[in-house]
Amino acid sequence: MSVTAITTAEKIILDASQQDEALSDRNTHATRVAGKGADPEKKALFASVTKRIDYTPKFGTELHGIRLSELTEQQSEELAALIAERGVVFFRDQEDLDLAEHVKLGKRWGPLHVHPLIPHNQANPEVIVLDSRYQPPARYNTNNSWHSDVSFEPAPSSFSILTFDEIPESGGDTAWSNGYALYDGLSEPIKKFLEGLTATHSSDNFKVLQALTGRKTFGKLNDTEHPVIRTNPVTGWKSVFVNAVFTREINNVSQAESKWILEYLHDLVSKRLDYQVRFRWAKHSVAIWDNRSTFHTGVPDFKPFFRRGLRVTVSGEIPFFDPNSGTQAQAWEAEANAIIAKQEAAAKAKAEALEKASATTA
Ligand SMILES: [Fe+2]
Repeated sequence: MSVTAITTAEKIILDASQQDEALSDRNTHATRVAGKGADPEKKALFASVTKRIDYTPKFGTELHGIRLSELTEQQSEELAALIAERGVVFFRDQEDLDLAEHVKLGKRWGPLHVHPLIPHNQANPEVIVLDSRYQPPARYNTNNSWHSDVSFEPAPSSFSILTFDEIPESGGDTAWSNGYALYDGLSEPIKKFLEGLTATHSSDNFKVLQALTGRKTFGKLNDTEHPVIRTNPVTGWKSVFVNAVFTREINNVSQAESKWILEYLHDLVSKRLDYQVRFRWAKHSVAIWDNRSTFHTGVPDFKPFFRRGLRVTVSGEIPFFDPNSGTQAQAWEAEANAIIAKQEAAAKAKAEALEKASATTA
């Protein structure tokens, strides 16, 4: 299918017209934290779950039995909390998540972001169209393409909701890396050092793309400063918040030091397999992730085929760092200890029952 055919049939807006030139300038920040204060056990959500698959102990979960278009308000709050805890949550067979439902789901959690450059659906400017036909020449590979969505905005994204309406026969997976684990894995002196720093995030990559394509933007391509270590407002856990695509530099250190710090962190994001999960897309699969505490990248292995994603991006709050925040590592230790205690208690009860039975038999 040619680009023209898709553009006409699906009404994709590639280029800002006079009418929508300032569309993204209206972006705002969330005024409440979706998922904060939700039932820690998430009973309403799990009442509908028929199967839960945790991809790794701390990161990535696939849920079966949920229809994203039919969530109650309580379930949607609990789901927001689960996504913040697990980083990314996957769903299969969401046939009824059309563009209207996709937008509706995002709006449950905050104002939707309008991207300053990525093409969008005409009727729904909040739905961006990630069509590999529109990508710039291959400048990215999986070492330098890890990012969290729109971190160059003053209020970067809390959640992204992604589905694909065109996928290659194979390949084109997406991988995510855990920003909580990245923080937790650093030594104490390096954690303390990074906690005092801020970084400048920029839309430089989109400025390059804009220059290459000559496309008009839908509003300003922003640059902004954020803390290097960020507190996730839902979980209260610390995570690293710099990424290879949008973080231009660490502030108040020399250029060489900034490069050295960023390269070290980016290297851990892309290489530490124990921080990562990878998702194989299928028609009607949906992934929802927390951009405040994760990084992701597409795997560019599917040429000469194409893929086309539809993404709704929820704007979050202004990033902050609270030195008294907890960590995922602490929460995980408590959870693992509770599981072990439960297993030990069950084993003990079983042994006692056996002993009792054998005593009776004797
Ligand atoms: Fe992305």
